[in-house]
Amino acid sequence: MAHVNENYAKLPGSYLFSTIAQKTAAFSEAHPEVDLIKMGIGDVTRPLAPAVVEAMHAAVDDLARVDTFQGYGPEQGYGFLRDAIAKHDFQSRGVAIDADEIFVSDGAKSDCGNIGDVLSVDNVIAVCDPVYPVYVDTNAMAGRAGEYDEAAQKWTNIYYMPTTAENDFVPALPTTPVDVIYLCSPNNPTGTVLNAEQLKAWVDYANENDAIIMFDAAYERFITEEDIPHSIYEIEGAHTCAIEFRSFSKTAGFTGARCGYTVVPKALVRDGQSLHSLWNRRQCTKFNGASYVIQRGAEAIYTPEGSAQIDETIEYYRKNACVIKEGLERAGLSVYGAVNSPYVWCKTPDAMGSWDFFELLLEKAHVITTPGAGFGPSGEGYIRLSAFGDAQATKEGVARIENMMASR
Ligand code: MLT
Repeated sequence: MAHVNENYAKLPGSYLFSTIAQKTAAFSEAHPEVDLIKMGIGDVTRPLAPAVVEAMHAAVDDLARVDTFQGYGPEQGYGFLRDAIAKHDFQSRGVAIDADEIFVSDGAKSDCGNIGDVLSVDNVIAVCDPVYPVYVDTNAMAGRAGEYDEAAQKWTNIYYMPTTAENDFVPALPTTPVDVIYLCSPNNPTGTVLNAEQLKAWVDYANENDAIIMFDAAYERFITEEDIPHSIYEIEGAHTCAIEFRSFSKTAGFTGARCGYTVVPKALVRDGQSLHSLWNRRQCTKFNGASYVIQRGAEAIYTPEGSAQIDETIEYYRKNACVIKEGLERAGLSVYGAVNSPYVWCKTPDAMGSWDFFELLLEKAHVITTPGAGFGPSGEGYIRLSAFGDAQATKEGVARIENMMASR
């Protein structure tokens, strides 16, 4: 008799963004005349950059000719893309990362989840609270999270580090031992960042305790402030304790195209084993590499024209983030994030529950947001708004929220 992975039965509800999609669909079905504005899931809306599209077209032509045809690619990614990443994302910023420490994939979400394959089920996981749900759910699926405590809305074996306005969204070092620490900066969902000093404290903690930091830098291209690290490897000591995840989804509009990468430094060793070797083994066995066409498209991001086009799109979203932040502030709400991030994290008015405020915005302003409680118990009392929408729709959405707040 076959048995299923019983850890799946412990997972509460559905994946956050699926729940929101269901609620939105139900509302639209009941009110087909309403034009909803989507500021919920962080999905991009601007098309791929022309340089990327051109490179993808050329890559399709390569596949159409016998002399340039490509079959299976390297599981770790093509050399042309790994070299471009190492040079432009790291070495040009003075960060020592070699091309062969980079593993190209179909996106950071998969890698964040799959990395658990090379870790013991006995590791104690630490996450910020609120948190990108993938870190928690994938560890729960692997059996590392313990039991889900419905009342506390927490897993019994996960160490939660609250990040709220009260501590300036900076997680405190753990008071009991933890083994694997997930950090995300610029943060999803709060939109806040960790500076070099704050990251250094974590790197020192991880090295002193033989822990590993899983550093999610999917939103690094949105950083505007000079002194904020773009990579954890800008911090001394990080090569011996950190794995970094990067994504082309938000940087270059690849949410549909799918491409990202993970950096596993060769200096990262635990239990006498190289994490780089383990991850390489895992990828070679379970993954056949991101597609050639997509990797050629990603390579084009690193050309001068591709890079300039990408910056234009990032600027478009940054302006949206600014519009949202300023509009919500005018509406009298307390707002965080936005400066180095496409996410705006907003305190609900009058201590309203975050699902209640989500429903109110849906029903009265016809704007879809993400309730903070969906990201963890410390997200209660907040909502998240995404700046990835159309500029005109974003302005309209913010105006609707302002009007709704004024008429309360
Ligand atoms: C989000 O809205 O948090 C993101 O779209 C999720 C993701 O990148 O998977």
